[in-house]
Amino acid sequence: MTTAYLNGDFQPLAEVRISPLDRGFLFGDGVYEVIPSYDGRPVAMQYHLERLRHSLECIHLSSAYSEQSLRSILAALIDQNGGGDLGIYLHISRGAEEKRQHAFSQLTTPTTFAYTFPINKPSDGSAETAQCCRVVTARDQRWGRCHIKSTALLGNVLHMMEAVHEGAQEALLFNDRDELTEATTCNVFVVRSGKVLTPPLDHEKLPGVTRRQCLEFLQAHTDWIVEVRPVTRDEVLSADEVWLTSSTKELAPVITIDGKIVADGKPGPRWSAAQQLFHERRFDSP
Ligand SMILES: Cc1ncc(COP(=O)(O)O)c(C=O)c1O
Repeated sequence: MTTAYLNGDFQPLAEVRISPLDRGFLFGDGVYEVIPSYDGRPVAMQYHLERLRHSLECIHLSSAYSEQSLRSILAALIDQNGGGDLGIYLHISRGAEEKRQHAFSQLTTPTTFAYTFPINKPSDGSAETAQCCRVVTARDQRWGRCHIKSTALLGNVLHMMEAVHEGAQEALLFNDRDELTEATTCNVFVVRSGKVLTPPLDHEKLPGVTRRQCLEFLQAHTDWIVEVRPVTRDEVLSADEVWLTSSTKELAPVITIDGKIVADGKPGPRWSAAQQLFHERRFDSP
C-alpha cells in the first residue's frame, strides 16, 4: 500500500482527504514537481526544489516548508514506500478558503501533498531498452505561462488526448511562428546535420530539469555542437533524430511524427550516446 504525505502526516494514499474548497481542486491553483528516485536515491533534488521555489514565487504562494524540511519529508516518504524505483509527486496548492472566489487571501494555509508511484529504470542507451515514442504535431493552444509548473494542466491534457486518439504517445507543439515549443509532458531536442538543437526557455516552455541536465552533460562530456535556439517546424520534420526529455523518461527517441518515420525509424546514434551519458551521470546533478 502506498504511503502518502499530507500537511504533516504520513498516511495510506487511499485514506488521504482534502477539502472540495481547496483552490487546487477548484482552480488548479497550485504547483508541483515529479522527482525520480532509483534504488532509493533521488535524482537532481536540488534542481527540482529550485524550480518549485520559482513556480511558487510566480504564483505568489509561500510554502509552509523550508527546502530542508521538504528534503526530509521526501526522504522519509521514499523510505516508507520501500525505496526502490519511484516517482515522487510533490504538490503545493493554495489551500481551502470558506468561499469560492477568484481573488485569493494571503492568509490561507497551503495544502502540501506528496505520494510515490513505481517507475521503470530508464534506458542505458541500448536500442533494446529505448522507450521509443510516436508523436503527432499540433498548434500549441495552452496558456502564456508555461514556465510555471502549474497543476492546471487542462491544455496539456487535451493536447495529449489528440495524440492518444491518433495512437501516439505525445504531441509536439508549435507556436504561431511555427517554432517548436515542447511536448505535453516533455521538452524536445532535435539532431540535424550533426548538431544538437533545443529551443530556448521562455514563457512557452517548462524549464525541464532533464533538459538542463542533458545540456550540462553534453557540454561537459562531449565535443558536440549544441545550439539553444528557435527550431522551426520544417527543421523538426526533416530531423535526423528527435528526442523527448522528462524526469521519468530521461531521453526518449521519437520514431514517427504524424505517422511518418523519423530517419530510419530506429533510435539514432546520438540518442544512444546521449542516453548512455545520462545513465552514467544522472546522479552528478545536485
Ligand atoms: C510540459 C512539460 N514540459 C517538460 C517537462 C519535462 O520536465 P522535467 O525534465 O523536469 O521532468 C514536463 C514534465 O513533466 C512537462 O510537464
